[in-house]
Amino acid sequence: MGLFGAPRNEGRRTMTRLCQTDDLEDGSARGARAGDRELLIVRTGGQLRAWLNVCPHQGRNLDFAPGEFLFTPRGLLVCPHHGASFDPFSGRCTDGPCLGAGLTPVPVVERDGAAWLELPADER
Ligand code: FES
Repeated sequence: MGLFGAPRNEGRRTMTRLCQTDDLEDGSARGARAGDRELLIVRTGGQLRAWLNVCPHQGRNLDFAPGEFLFTPRGLLVCPHHGASFDPFSGRCTDGPCLGAGLTPVPVVERDGAAWLELPADER
């Protein structure tokens, strides 16, 4: 799981460190937490994306073991429960029981080798 970080006020936004990402390979993911929310941090096409770790089919976590995620050889993220597959860049379900539904995006930026949750200062 990711490291917790104390929120830092930076002007009109609040930055919270979620997890280390400089060792996150393309086509892989890791879990992190933001308060009581479980997140999924994925690198795809060289870019970082973050989603709530919640499958839109039945609301179950997408990791098969804590912080461990499945990918197809084509790089789609797979829910271990009923096999829904997701485009890790768009979050859209491309096959399975929730076809067309989407993962819930989380605003992150990558800085200093880590993923940071970026929220307006009044949305913590
Ligand atoms: S809970 Fe994910 S496919 Fe059913």
